[in-house]
Amino acid sequence: MSSASDLSPWRLDWDESMSVGIPDIDAQHQHFIELVNELNKCILWRMPLPDIRAAMSAIYTDAQQHFSSEEQLFKEWQYPETHIHAQIHAQILQVLSEICDRFKFDDSSEYELIDAGLKIKHTLVEHMLTEDMKYRDFFYAQTNPAK
Ligand SMILES: [Fe+2]
Ligand SMILES: [Fe+2]
Repeated sequence: MSSASDLSPWRLDWDESMSVGIPDIDAQHQHFIELVNELNKCILWRMPLPDIRAAMSAIYTDAQQHFSSEEQLFKEWQYPETHIHAQIHAQILQVLSEICDRFKFDDSSEYELIDAGLKIKHTLVEHMLTEDMKYRDFFYAQTNPAK
């Protein structure tokens, strides 16, 4: 079903440039993007706070699972940046948790919600496009050694 919100500048669409070349991880990133779009749709449509809160905590839970899948792979690959990448994951979870806590009560302004939605989107997307791309390059070099 198409609607005006589908055209929202908030909406993020997956494209091949975001691929890390690992189908399972790409699928997890795509799911992430769907959840972030869902949250921003809830905010844009001014849905009740419990729905917005549920969308935020779905992102938190998904991020926890996704980060742990990545860290498991790093162990298998003996990825040299494992420690720093895992630290960044922990920082992101902290940011997400603080944002979720902020909206426990019903007195949040629309501005605060919009700001939170944008911050969540920015934090996750930036991580995917910068830090995650570093392991993509490492993985690619491991699986396609120069001749
Ligand atoms: Fe990731
Ligand atoms: Fe990551």
